[in-house]
Amino acid sequence: MTDLTYPTRLTDRIDELVQLAPVIPVLTIKRIEDAVPLAQALVAGGLPVLEVTLRSPVALQAIEAIAEQVPEAEVGAGTVLNPGDFDRAVAAGSRFIVSPGITGELLDHACTSSVPLLPGIQTVSELMEGIQRGYQRFKFFPAEIAGGTGALKAIAGPFADVRFCPTGGIRAHTAADYLALPNVMCVGGTWLAPNDLVEQGDWDAIRELARACSPH
Ligand code: 3PG
Repeated sequence: MTDLTYPTRLTDRIDELVQLAPVIPVLTIKRIEDAVPLAQALVAGGLPVLEVTLRSPVALQAIEAIAEQVPEAEVGAGTVLNPGDFDRAVAAGSRFIVSPGITGELLDHACTSSVPLLPGIQTVSELMEGIQRGYQRFKFFPAEIAGGTGALKAIAGPFADVRFCPTGGIRAHTAADYLALPNVMCVGGTWLAPNDLVEQGDWDAIRELARACSPH
């Protein structure tokens, strides 16, 4: 199937989510007991939109725990690679889905869901593939390797209506450069939950990292 079109209401839903916060922490949760306090710390720091990657055995359980126990958070799933991942992530309570790249199968599958997909692209041809299926919002990954802010400025010429969430190599001191671009709606990254702070359970330090880039 290649004739499915991504519904406008799901693009609108992505736009609503990014209105909540311009920075999305990308979280790979290794211990299930970290999920709720980590989410609470980030929310308390002003960043309620959280991407939990499906890169650990407890990822789905972590999404479920955050969805149930941290109602102020908007928890989504990242590193979603195929329709099976997509469905499992939605069943766990994900309110949005992020993929690092695109496949026709995944793009079509998301057209039939009520949960929005932010598909990852790195090249203009991948972008055109997504646009052809009705997508207007994309993850730009890996942002720094793929040309960073210079690439996004160049892409804005032919694709003025498209908006991006760059991730991959972005840090606290470079996030603002991306966010200053008109075609960047938000940025994502792991710098908000460094492994050492999570392992130590230093939730206060994580809250302060969030606060440093929160608009509130
Ligand atoms: C992602 O999936 O978005 C990346 O793994 C982000 O990682 P980084 O912020 O450490 O580059």
